[in-house]
Amino acid sequence: MNYRHAYHAGNHADVLKHVVLARVIEHLKQKDAPFRIYDAHGGIGSYDLEGVEAGKTLEWREGVGRLFSMDGAPLALAQEADALIAPWRDCVAAVNEGGALKRYPGSPEIARLLARPQDRLRFNELHPADFKTLRARYAGDKRAAISDLDALVFVKSQLPPPERRGLVLIDPPYEKTDEAERALAMLTEGLKRFATGVFLLWFPVTGDGLDRRIKDAVRAMEANHLWTILNVRKPKPDGGLAGSGVIVVNPPWKLGRDLEILMPALAERLSQGAPFFEIKNAAP
Ligand SMILES: C[S@@+](CC[C@H](N)C(=O)[O-])C[C@H]1O[C@@H](n2cnc3c(N)ncnc32)[C@H](O)[C@@H]1O
Repeated sequence: MNYRHAYHAGNHADVLKHVVLARVIEHLKQKDAPFRIYDAHGGIGSYDLEGVEAGKTLEWREGVGRLFSMDGAPLALAQEADALIAPWRDCVAAVNEGGALKRYPGSPEIARLLARPQDRLRFNELHPADFKTLRARYAGDKRAAISDLDALVFVKSQLPPPERRGLVLIDPPYEKTDEAERALAMLTEGLKRFATGVFLLWFPVTGDGLDRRIKDAVRAMEANHLWTILNVRKPKPDGGLAGSGVIVVNPPWKLGRDLEILMPALAERLSQGAPFFEIKNAAP
């Protein structure tokens, strides 16, 4: 396992993924009934933007760095988009204690900060060192349990939640050739066990057609879903991470509207020359 998220934390793809994640959690909170958040690929939960890894790529500067100034002041979006991005932005501010931008919250931290006392958190991470960091970080949170399973085993063994309400984040590194197929298997197996769950699947756009394969495969599952992509520049083979996308199965009903407002504002803010976004509702 070579991938370490510390090199990429806070980049444009993290911003898209985490803004959507925060919106989904906010919609789940519209009902008092408890829910469970499953993070199958948790990473370490919080990242040092001044650390060696982040310093090597500086990817965060073209991501979260476009939405905060270095002294930690938020760089506002247009009015309606600004209100919708606020839950994610508040999480970034919380890990920086309102001061200068030095840290970035990963998906477990966003889940922890936005979840309520009645909600439950299940974080999973296979990398031995990252698992230890993740477990230490959340050991004191009574709502949380941390595991070090393969993500497919995690999904199969944990679902459905006793609360019958929940969100499953599938966020693999896509470094190995079979990882897209395994991510799709997680979705299939997850839906078999928890047909009403909200599933959030992140995928990269790198100009190799993987994004199309993933979207086509999810469409063939005939589940109610929407997807959105945000390319900050034109994808080309060997051109690196030009963009990314998120598929949300069983999306909260107002999520599509949120994205219609957020995506143009994010595309403009995160642009590296030729921004492009798309939002598709795909009811079965
Ligand atoms: C993109 S990172 C996750 C980032 C995190 N979800 C976030 O948004 O902050 C992917 C993580 O998956 C872990 N990983 C890779 N293969 C895995 C597997 N088969 N099962 C569980 N975790 C895995 C990697 O070690 C890495 O930490």
